[in-house]
Amino acid sequence: MENSNIYILAIESSCDDTSAAVLHNNRKLSNVVATQKIHEEYGGVVPELASRAHQQNIVPVVDRALAKANIDKKQLSAIAFTRGPGLMGSLLVGTSFAKSLAQGLGIPLIEVNHMEAHILAHFIKDEEQSMPGFPFLAMTISGGHTQIVKVNDYFDMEILGETLDDAVGEAFDKSAKLLGLPYPGGPLIDAHAKKGNPKAFKFPKPKVEGLNFSFSGLKTSILYFIQKETAANPHFIAENIDDICASIQYTIINILMDKLKLAAKQTGIKQVAIGGGVSANSGIRKALTDANKKYGWKTYIPKFEYCTDNAAMIGIVGYLKFMEGSFTDQGVSPKARFALGS
Ligand code: KG4
Ligand code: ZN
Repeated sequence: MENSNIYILAIESSCDDTSAAVLHNNRKLSNVVATQKIHEEYGGVVPELASRAHQQNIVPVVDRALAKANIDKKQLSAIAFTRGPGLMGSLLVGTSFAKSLAQGLGIPLIEVNHMEAHILAHFIKDEEQSMPGFPFLAMTISGGHTQIVKVNDYFDMEILGETLDDAVGEAFDKSAKLLGLPYPGGPLIDAHAKKGNPKAFKFPKPKVEGLNFSFSGLKTSILYFIQKETAANPHFIAENIDDICASIQYTIINILMDKLKLAAKQTGIKQVAIGGGVSANSGIRKALTDANKKYGWKTYIPKFEYCTDNAAMIGIVGYLKFMEGSFTDQGVSPKARFALGS
């Protein structure tokens, strides 16, 4: 498979990052991400503003990805793009751009499921990460999703469990908002948590059977906790921010690890991978690294660059589909909801 000479241009525009990447076979040549700062002041992604920013960013981002890869458009073998899931207005920008460029260049178009890409990002050949063998368990943890997936093959995946309400990234972001931190709050909670005591405060874990998750109760208990403590001491947050963040992060990671342990027990699979924006979190990375020794697992943690939304992960799926001859018709339109394997 690696003897081929395939160049894929990949485009990702599902949420608030405009990204383009060029891959040569399964290796990344460039991976350019323009993160939209505009949402910070609103405390969350504003869909209409995201679409407009994608529209402004897409041409310069693609140009930079090609220039950094030192590739001319005429050398491209195919264009891969995120068809969904995501925000419709955002997806439309990337989809329309990819369709037009593929048609203009007379090359194939390849649709990619964003969640599949978070999982298959492990197959980008890179010295700083290793590839799992099949079957493996993948936990996708992002701002929009929380799933445990049994991956039998590149395109044969089974969802074993998922969130019944908020995604884990939302749990981080909403908790951060309650503490007065800007969006996206996940990385800020992580930074404060590094300086705090994870056992300073105790938050209840949700009681959800099986492999499904729930995070909305946690958010509510944090809200009540903050209200109670700030009523007694108006400076409570400022004085305890590190300990509060460490305790929130500790609770969330325990919830994730409990479900992963159950999935490993139920399936007998000991190869465990994570993917999605929250896999950039230092606490989950450590918990997974420790699991190698603790539970005899072989764990796979993506390189930082491939954790949060990026087009290189879209490109690797594009390459795998190209090798299978799986192309997409020009009549394609985006899907805001797009189940794995559909
Ligand atoms: O995968 P992603 O970039 O976009 C979605 O598809 O949702 O994930 C974004 C999410 C946000 O909720 C962000 O707060 C979270 O990933 N995130 C983190 C960290 N870095 C990003 N959460 C906790 N700790 C981090 N270090
Ligand atoms: Zn994502």
